[in-house]
Amino acid sequence: MSTEPYLLTPGPLSISMRTKQAMLRDWGSWDVDFNSITGRIRERLLAIVHGAATHECVPLQGSGTFSVEAALGTLVPRAHGHVLVPQNGAYCQRIARICRYLGRKVTTIDYAEDAAVKAADVERALAQDPSITHVALVHCETSAGILNPLDEVAQVVARHERRLIVDAMSSFGALEIDARRTPFDALVAASGKCLEGPPGMGFVIVRRSALERSEGNGHSLALDLYDQWVYMQKTTQWRYTPPTHVVAAFDCAIAQFLEEGGQAARGARYARNCRTLIDGMSALGLRSFLPASIQAPIIVTFHAPDDPHYQFKSFYNAVKALGYVLYPGKLTTLETFRVGCMGQLGERGIGGAIEAVGQVLAQMRAAA
Ligand SMILES: Cc1ncc(COP(=O)(O)O)c(C=O)c1O
Repeated sequence: MSTEPYLLTPGPLSISMRTKQAMLRDWGSWDVDFNSITGRIRERLLAIVHGAATHECVPLQGSGTFSVEAALGTLVPRAHGHVLVPQNGAYCQRIARICRYLGRKVTTIDYAEDAAVKAADVERALAQDPSITHVALVHCETSAGILNPLDEVAQVVARHERRLIVDAMSSFGALEIDARRTPFDALVAASGKCLEGPPGMGFVIVRRSALERSEGNGHSLALDLYDQWVYMQKTTQWRYTPPTHVVAAFDCAIAQFLEEGGQAARGARYARNCRTLIDGMSALGLRSFLPASIQAPIIVTFHAPDDPHYQFKSFYNAVKALGYVLYPGKLTTLETFRVGCMGQLGERGIGGAIEAVGQVLAQMRAAA
């Protein structure tokens, strides 16, 4: 049994012992056995979204943001690219910031932190401004935990013959995404999220035709997905030093994902966690921030306890001492904290976390 605290966070998450053990072996980056692991990961990631016929999977070193930036820089042309970002949280804001950094024109549609993106607003913006070439959508906005309507937005973008880039960082593997039904040019995610690997690499599922057209767009050699793809196709190797231990463990985590029953089973487990969490916290008097209709089963934002002595730091430390790591809130105006539903938690992890929060709240009340 592990004595580590459970991570109730949006990643890095609690991963299985089997995944951790897969990191105990050293691999040569030129070695054929290692490169066959990379090939298997690429194939399996593509299969999760049914993209083999139309898309390519390009892995990239680094955290998720590196892959988001790589997708934008590689696919949005420097000269006339114009990205529309429907914005309802910090990760959407980060996309807009990346576009500005890269000198790509960006326009936002701004929403409140508790409102989902509306496909009709995207439709209006595209109809009004023919210069918009791409829409960048965050599928699950991890800041508050909102589920944005990927499929509806994708249909609108396709109807207007524009291109869609999706940040699916905290949805890939848990929520259904089907490239045969939902048109997108790029879908970005990373190893340390719903597929429950360690952090350290991202990947982009890119429409093959868009990738083929993207040569020369990239502003950065290290983040050029086209260059990474061409090299990988030619050699089966990563262009630059791969995070070998992370790749091996990610492969092992994907094998466990498939054994569990793939996306449907993973999504059902997270949904159960989410329901148990919201019900249990509600019984303790803690209200979740989002309406149920837009709550993704990934991470839940709760209003801070209604107690004048409440401070996140001491609350966090007290819950951590009982074996559960919570996550700070990321809202701009309200005092909140977040609890993740993802990772190797089982029913006991969520139930235990609720008990720990209840215990700490009781201590806070007694000390007041
Ligand atoms: C929706 C979303 N996008 C992007 C990121 C950024 O990933 P990273 O911190 O791995 O760079 C995260 C991280 O949690 C996320 O949830």
